[in-house]
Amino acid sequence: MGHSHRGKRWLPRYYSPVVPSVRDVVRLHTDLDEDDLAWLQLLLSDWQIIADLSFADLVLWLPDRDGRGFWGGAQMRPTTGPTAFVDDLVGAFVPTGRRQLLDTAFEQRRIAREGDPEWRDNVPVRVETIPVLRGTSLLGVIARNTNLLGIRPPSRLELSYLQTASDLTRMISVGRFPQPFERREWSASPRVGDGFVRTDAVGMVAYASPNAQSAYRRLGLPGDLVGESFATVTTSLVDVPAGPVDEPLGITLAGLAPREAEFGNEEATVAARVIPLQPGAEYDGALVLLRDVTELRMRERELITKDATIREIHHRVKNNLQTVAALLRLQSRRVLEPEARAALDEAVRRVGSIAIVHETLSHTLDEHVDFDEVADRLGQMVGEVGRDAGAATVHTSRSGSFGRLSSDVATPLAMVLTELLQNAIQHAFGADGGRVDVHALRLAGRLEVIVDDDGRGLPAGFDPGTSGHLGLSIVRTLVESELGGLITLGARGTEGETGTRVRVDIPMRES
Ligand SMILES: Nc1ncnc2c1ncn2[C@@H]1O[C@H](COP(=O)(O)OP(=O)(O)OP(=O)(O)O)[C@@H](O)[C@H]1O
Ligand SMILES: [Mg+2]
Repeated sequence: MGHSHRGKRWLPRYYSPVVPSVRDVVRLHTDLDEDDLAWLQLLLSDWQIIADLSFADLVLWLPDRDGRGFWGGAQMRPTTGPTAFVDDLVGAFVPTGRRQLLDTAFEQRRIAREGDPEWRDNVPVRVETIPVLRGTSLLGVIARNTNLLGIRPPSRLELSYLQTASDLTRMISVGRFPQPFERREWSASPRVGDGFVRTDAVGMVAYASPNAQSAYRRLGLPGDLVGESFATVTTSLVDVPAGPVDEPLGITLAGLAPREAEFGNEEATVAARVIPLQPGAEYDGALVLLRDVTELRMRERELITKDATIREIHHRVKNNLQTVAALLRLQSRRVLEPEARAALDEAVRRVGSIAIVHETLSHTLDEHVDFDEVADRLGQMVGEVGRDAGAATVHTSRSGSFGRLSSDVATPLAMVLTELLQNAIQHAFGADGGRVDVHALRLAGRLEVIVDDDGRGLPAGFDPGTSGHLGLSIVRTLVESELGGLITLGARGTEGETGTRVRVDIPMRES
């Protein structure tokens, strides 16, 4: 390519606000089929490794349906070095003839590179193009663009990276990479920078990056990894797994098949990704990416036990409250004086309503409850207690939804609702019974709860400030002080309708 300044001619002619996916580009502009696309996606899920190992930007160019040129399908920047492109090339079009190296790699199905670096915006860039093959089908070309400004005389680490990168690109050009394999759910997906080991054809460690070496020091290896058999040295350090395994670790780490593994001992846990390398006719060892996941796994274990502990606490609080309620109930049976008895029954109910919240919390993973469930169970409980006490049949129902509430809102709100339901059942109706509806409305930043009954209404001259007994003063304290909200009591609806409406309005911190 004779030009020295390509500059902005590379940019897409349009900028769409959404960067197209490789799927979009394949569908819009190419003749590639679903299997080709799946292969490309598999490649893209791993090409960060190649970008990192070669300190280079990668751009996947896909052949236009009408053979007019190539479309930018995907792009990857290195995390180990400077980028060669500030701009996005996905969606860009390069006509045939514009970039000789792309055409060469595509037409001749071979890796093409040029001797002299290309200059782009005053940055020297070395370009190499790699045909992407799946079986015998040619899917596109990867351009590997190395920003030479950032490259010092290569160290042993860099040489080892570059060698492995070139093995991988050769494998891409003959359809041997990517390697389909079963990803693990727990995969910690190690990256090049996390730890790099290169083994040779007989499984000896040829190079280990400082991070890989540190991980092994942590596992208990006093000496150098280089020169050791990777599988043997690892199995000598780690514990034999307690559970069933699909294959012995020594076989996984021999590096003959693409695998992921996690191993460790008391001191450390390491995640590994094994990529066998066969750039030419012969197997040539493996690339192993390692990541020290000791802290990660430790924190996960702690989190699991913390969640379990919180649930267990709620479970026990609920049990204790139920025990208290049962004791109070026993006591109330022994008391003869009706007023004292009623007071004890009420205490049973109040304790019970808090127990319901804790029971619900003991089933959840976080400190939030689905309050609809709580409200429905409270309605049931209050109705039952009312029936036991000989009240008329009252139907309770709920409309609307409370949504999820944090426990510091749920507990006081459960008590408020209990008192309001109890009042309706106790005071609103005669022998015929009636209906109570709880309506919940979740609005931006607040929750509105309305308790309606179709009973006789509040007594004449009712003054919510002074007429309240213990029940309403509990409710007022909880709503105004605990929940920072407002409560109003009044007649339900317009003329002709009887009944009481209690409206509770509380502010919500949105989660
Ligand atoms: N839904 C209602 N329908 C009719 N009257 C009601 C209703 N809710 C409350 N009241 C009236 O308001 C009064 C005060 O209620 P409050 O809950 O404070 O006390 P209480 O229910 O009498 O006793 P407790 O302390 O056991 O709750 C009630 O005695 C009743 O006269
Ligand atoms: Mg009351």
